[in-house]
Amino acid sequence: MEETATLILEGKSYELPVVVGTEGEKGIDITTLRQKTGYITLDPGYGNTGSCISEITFMDGEKGILRYRGIPVEQLAEKSTFVETAFLLINGRLPSQKEFISTSVALNDYSLVHEDMQIFFQNFPRRAHPMGILSSMMNALRSFYPELDNTLEEANKTYLRLLSKIRTMAAMSYKISNGQKVVYPRPDFSYCANFLNMMFDSPVKPYNVDPDLVQALNVFWILHADHEQNCSTAAVRVVGSGRVNIYAALSAGVAALWGPLHGGANQAVIEMLMEIEKSGVTVDEVVKRAKAKDDSFRLMGFGHRVYKTYDPRAKIMKKMCDTVLSKLKTYDPLLDIAKRLEEVALTDSYFIDKNLYPNVDFYSGIVLRAMGIPINMFTVMFAIGRLPGWLAQWKEGAEDPDWKISRPRQIYMGENVRDYIPLSERK
Ligand code: ACO
Repeated sequence: MEETATLILEGKSYELPVVVGTEGEKGIDITTLRQKTGYITLDPGYGNTGSCISEITFMDGEKGILRYRGIPVEQLAEKSTFVETAFLLINGRLPSQKEFISTSVALNDYSLVHEDMQIFFQNFPRRAHPMGILSSMMNALRSFYPELDNTLEEANKTYLRLLSKIRTMAAMSYKISNGQKVVYPRPDFSYCANFLNMMFDSPVKPYNVDPDLVQALNVFWILHADHEQNCSTAAVRVVGSGRVNIYAALSAGVAALWGPLHGGANQAVIEMLMEIEKSGVTVDEVVKRAKAKDDSFRLMGFGHRVYKTYDPRAKIMKKMCDTVLSKLKTYDPLLDIAKRLEEVALTDSYFIDKNLYPNVDFYSGIVLRAMGIPINMFTVMFAIGRLPGWLAQWKEGAEDPDWKISRPRQIYMGENVRDYIPLSERK
C-alpha cells in the first residue's frame, strides 16, 4: 500500500501522498493542499520545499554525497573532462566515442561570437563587473541567435552554442576590459586549453598552455557543473517557467549567481583572506567576529543550506590548491591563512553545533589566483562551470508536458481594508 501523510486541520483529516525518491528521499506531495483545505504552506527560503522531481543531480547533505546522473563527482573529477561531464548532465548519459568527437567539433565550430557583439563589450564602462556584463550579454545573445527550435537537433545545437560561446564571451570581456586585443579561439585546442589561451595569450607575450593547468581547470569546472535546486538554478527554472526564451532564463541564472551568499562567495572569500593578510588581524579574532551576534560579518566560504558536513567539492578543491601551487612552484600565503581559519573554525563549538564547514568557494579562489585569473572574474569562472547544470535543469523543465509556471503564494500581514483619503484632507 502506498504511504500517505495524515494532516489534521480544524478537526478534519486529509491524506496526502508521500513521494519517495530513488535514493530514499521522502517528500509529502501537497499539490492539492490548497484546493482541498484552503491552507497553504509557509517556507521562506524554500528550505523544506521540493520545487520539482528531477533526474539530474543527487545530493545528500548529511553524508556529503554529490552525484551527477548517478556518477559520484569524485570519479568525474578524477577521470572525466568538463565537456564529457556537460554532455552527461544535459543528455543523461556519458557520450559514446563518436558523440564525444562530434561534441568537441561542434564546440569548436560554435566558438566565435558575432563580431557585432564586440561593440557592446567595448561600450561597458571599464569598471563594470564582469558578472553584470555576462548577464547582459547572455540576454543579448537572443538578438543574435535564433530562438530555440523544438526539434531535438536544433535544441542540442543551442546548448552547444551556449557552452562554447560563454567561454569566448568571458575571455573577450576580460581582454576588452584591459584594453587588449581579443584573442580568437583555436580549433586545435581543447575546451579548457582554449579558454586559458584566449585569456592570457598576447601578441607581445605568447602564452604556453600548461597541461597541468588545463587539468586543474577541467576539475574546477566539473566541481561546479551542477548542484540541483540552488539559488541560480532555481532562478533559471522560475524564469524559464514563464516560457521566456532560454537566453533570458540563463541571464537570470548568472545574475542570481553573482550574489556573495551564492557564487559571488568565491570573490568574497579571497577578499576576506587578503584583508586578513593586509590588516594582520589574527585568525582567532576573525572567527570571534564571525560568531558575534551583533556583527553581520560571516566567515565567507563557510556554511551551506544543504551540506551539514564537509562539502565533497571543497575536499577536492583543497587538495587541488596544494597540487596546483606545488606544480607551479608558487607559495600563496592566503592558503596558509585559509587552512588556519578552517582549523580554528572546525574546533569551535559555534561552527560544530551549527554544522558549518568549508563549502566549494572556500578554497577555489586560491586555485584561480594561481592560474592567473583576476579576482573580479572568479564568479564568471563559476558561471561557465555551472552552465551545463542550468541547461540540463532548464531542459528538464521544458520537456515536462506539465511544466507549471512558478508562482508561490504568501501570507498577507498588511493593513485591513481601509478607505482612500484625498490629498487635500491629509496633513
Ligand atoms: N559564518 C558565521 N555564521 C554562519 C555562517 C558563516 N559563514 N553561515 C551560517 N552561519 C550561522 C547563521 O548566523 C545562523 O546562526 P543562528 O542560527 O544563530 O541565527 C546559522 O549559522 C544558520 O545560518 P543560515 O544563514 O540560517 O543558513 P542558510 O542555510 O540560510 O544559509 C549560507 C546558507 C547562505 C550559505 C550561509 O551559510 C552563508 O551566508 N555562508 C557564507 C556565504 C557563502 O559561503 N556562500 C556560498 C555558499 S555555496 C554556494 O552557493 C556556491
